[in-house]
Amino acid sequence: MDRHIVLIGFMGAGKTTVGGQLSATLGCPLLDTDAMIEEQAGMTISEIFANQGEEAFRRTETEVLADLACREPAVVSTGGGVPLREENRRALRDMGYVVYLKVRPDTVLRRLSGDTTRPLLQGENKREKVERLLVGRDPVYRAAAHLAVEADGRKPEDIAAEILSRIQPAEP
Ligand code: S3P
Repeated sequence: MDRHIVLIGFMGAGKTTVGGQLSATLGCPLLDTDAMIEEQAGMTISEIFANQGEEAFRRTETEVLADLACREPAVVSTGGGVPLREENRRALRDMGYVVYLKVRPDTVLRRLSGDTTRPLLQGENKREKVERLLVGRDPVYRAAAHLAVEADGRKPEDIAAEILSRIQPAEP
């Protein structure tokens, strides 16, 4: 593998889990933008949102992408908001093969039912928040990705296998 494999998609799509499968199969590192940001800031994502605001978080996301572009080939799991900025979409496509893990709102709600770590989904009307964000973001994710993969109700290893087979088609 000579370039990154970049996983994008909504919160709860399974980017980090599928990324773990891919990195184990390929024997390359798994890098996670949220983890890099938390390490750099010495704070959790929730603390960054609360103390510095979402804009500051988004700026750090863009900085982290520049750092990622210089790393050896890896599987990159991105925060769900990374593709929202045009400059980020360009950076993602420049650094490797971009894969969109596509999920329905029901899947997100089930997987993140007790979650307290995603500031955008806290408080009342979680379903409404997920549906509204997902409707707005789906076209953005599609535009950013080289490949879209269904991630509802499937095992992470099956999703990883599909991604690999579509990135590296078997020899005829
Ligand atoms: C966000 C997704 C989160 C995290 C932050 C904002 C978003 O990452 O970056 O809470 O805007 O969709 P995950 O997609 O890994 O949950």
